[in-house]
Amino acid sequence: MVRTTVSVIKADVGSIAGHYKPHQKMLDLAKTILSEAEKVGLINSFYVYSVGDDIGLVLTHYKGENNPEIHALSWKVFKELTEKVAKPLKLYAAGQDLLSDAFSGNIRGMGPGVAELEFEERQSDPIVVFAADKTEPGAWNLPLYKIFADPFNTAGLVIDPKLRDGFVFEVLDVIEDKKVRLKTPEESYDLLALLGTTGRYCVSKVYRADGEPAAAASTNRLSLIAGKYVGKDDPVLIVRAQSGFPAIGEILAPFATPHLVAGWMRGSHNGPLMPVSCREAVISYFDGPPRVIAMGWQISDGKLVGVDGIEPADLFADPFWDYSRSIAAQLAIYMRTMGEFMPARLDPSEMEYTTLPQVLKKLESRFERS
Ligand code: F6R
Ligand code: MG
Ligand code: MG
Repeated sequence: MVRTTVSVIKADVGSIAGHYKPHQKMLDLAKTILSEAEKVGLINSFYVYSVGDDIGLVLTHYKGENNPEIHALSWKVFKELTEKVAKPLKLYAAGQDLLSDAFSGNIRGMGPGVAELEFEERQSDPIVVFAADKTEPGAWNLPLYKIFADPFNTAGLVIDPKLRDGFVFEVLDVIEDKKVRLKTPEESYDLLALLGTTGRYCVSKVYRADGEPAAAASTNRLSLIAGKYVGKDDPVLIVRAQSGFPAIGEILAPFATPHLVAGWMRGSHNGPLMPVSCREAVISYFDGPPRVIAMGWQISDGKLVGVDGIEPADLFADPFWDYSRSIAAQLAIYMRTMGEFMPARLDPSEMEYTTLPQVLKKLESRFERS
């Protein structure tokens, strides 16, 4: 049986009005390049989206995860968007996430974020792709725990026999670059002990107890790749839904009470993650607050099937989420009352911008033993 792969590869290669939104010409050029790849059979289908200043490519194909041709295609898209649109139009931060000039076969570690999930199609296979701006991969830890391990969120864990055996979380230590697998519900407390440290431990994959792939997240940290802080890696997440996986409504539910995530203005603040429709996927107040969109498709014979052609179900467009957006706005304004005081401002080790070394240097001679 042929296995289908969903690859979501994203990068910020330039935007208009500062870090607000990419230019329409960039999205159009990405579509043109991917249409060619679809015609020659390299990919089966594709969708191009933007969230904040990031552009994401959702690709379906039969080539498996970490495939050099698929990664080379994505690299080519981002390179051309940079050279043919972002730079000529002097867009803001043109080419920002392309950290190297030489492509070596795998786009991981070169700047763009990658989440990939390969699986054998079921009778019917719904998926949700989440994409966030102004935050980092650890932002998925809390919702992923709720979706796959919290029986107060996911009713199926309690009342659906197909979910009762639980899930296995693959957790990456992004500082030491090693990973560990933990099984829920048996090892829930150990898992939570790690996942609470969102800047270091990130869920990279989730499997059902029988080994069936359930979710994949992007986990690279630009800062660690570049050796110095060059920004938070606005993350993406793919989740399979229904019939033996959590239902779409259980997958969306954790986002109803916006949790605080690291990122926001200058990648240096904690702010609420606001669920928004694809149309509202831009940032404004204090360069935020951090946003998340949720796009739903069916995967059918290796292709994305949306509500209208390739257009995804825009899962946070429902008026229900106005309530959550209002909570996020209130939390955002509240967090700003603290200015540059922790924990509204991040710990120095997590800040994208800091003047602390200069201040300490200036004051060096004036510090005395206490
Ligand atoms: C955060 C982000 C923005 C910028 C801010 C300052 O990830 O992209 O909040 O950090 O707008 O940008 P510069 O230094 O480019 O003026
Ligand atoms: Mg940007
Ligand atoms: Mg961004």
